[in-house]
This record gives sequence, structure tokens and C-alpha cells, in this order.
Amino acid sequence: MIKKIMMWLLANYFLTRYLVFNDDAATPTCVCAIMNQSSIEPLIEQEFPNKMGCDETGKLACRKLCTTLAEVTKQSGNGAQILCQQLMRDAIVTVNLFSKVCDAPFEHTGIQYEKPVCCENGSVCNVTTTQS
Ligand SMILES: *[C@@H]1O[C@H](CO)[C@@H](O)[C@H](O)[C@H]1NC(C)=O
Ligand SMILES: *[C@@H]1O[C@H](CO)[C@@H](O)[C@H](O)[C@H]1NC(C)=O
Ligand SMILES: *[C@@H]1O[C@H](CO)[C@@H](O)[C@H](O)[C@H]1NC(C)=O
Repeated sequence: MIKKIMMWLLANYFLTRYLVFNDDAATPTCVCAIMNQSSIEPLIEQEFPNKMGCDETGKLACRKLCTTLAEVTKQSGNGAQILCQQLMRDAIVTVNLFSKVCDAPFEHTGIQYEKPVCCENGSVCNVTTTQS
């Protein structure tokens, strides 16, 4: 489950590094973010240019981009590890994926991982929980 997220990170690393060169401030943006549980404070966020704009069409395109990246991430084996490396602190994170366009508020994409990720010293640790 957790793996999804990390694949997402791998994928966006790839995208930003190799595919996205447009850094124009006027370009509409799409932001994918990982939040913890019901928090609305992004733990990790990644911005992309969004040629579809800031309206409903742009919103849908943005959500699709974020969920697709999450889906790609699912295929990867070391997602949790990447999350922990990015987090840089010890914590237990229940991953929720959000997206937003331009200045709009973050909206939940519908993707939430059932199992929390435990991070310690930048690595994945075991978590004992009854939460499903
Ligand atoms: C996520 O939320 C849980 C429960 O509120 C909390 O214990 C944990 O420390 C939070 N993780 C981070 C990274 O803030
Ligand atoms: C994390 O680091 C602390 C202090 O260096 C150590 O006591 C602890 O065992 C480490 N935890 C893991 C999971 O490596
Ligand atoms: C977590 O627990 C499993 C099985 O209980 C064990 O094989 C694994 O080494 C543990 N991982 C860590 C980081 O402690």
C-alpha cells in the first residue's frame, strides 16, 4: 500500500528532472501533496505546470496527474523508504494525497493509504497499530 506513494515520488522526481522545464511564474500550476491523516499541512508537495489552466478542467487534469503518479508509485518497491527520506524527521504518517491548481485550496484526491508509514532516522521502521 505504502509503496504507492513512493512510486509517486519516484515518478515526480523523474518528471521534474527530465520532462518539466517550464518555470514561468505565469504558468498555471498543479500541486500534488501528501498530507498526514486529517491534517491540511502538506508534508511533501510537488508543483507542476498545468497547461489546462486554473478552472474545473485544470482541476480535473491536475487530480488525474497526481493520482496517476500515485498509481505509478504503486508499482515501485521502495516508496515508503523515499517518503521517510523526504520527511527528515521521525513520525508516523497516514498518507493522504491532495491536489490543487493555482491559488485554489487543496482537495483530497480520494487516495489514502490504509496503513501508516513509520519513519525513523530517515528509514522505514515497524509500526504497531490496530488501525486498518
Ligand atoms: C500524523 O498524525 C499522527 C496522529 O495525529 C501523529 O501521531 C503523527 O505524528 C503525525 N505525523 C506527522 C509527520 O506529523
Ligand atoms: C535511530 O537513531 C537513534 C540514535 O542514533 C538510535 O538509538 C535508534 O536505534 C535508531 N533507530 C533505528 C530504527 O535505526
Ligand atoms: C519489522 O518487522 C519485521 C518482522 O517482524 C522484521 O523482519 C523487520 O526486520 C523489521 N524492520 C525493522 C526496520 O525493524
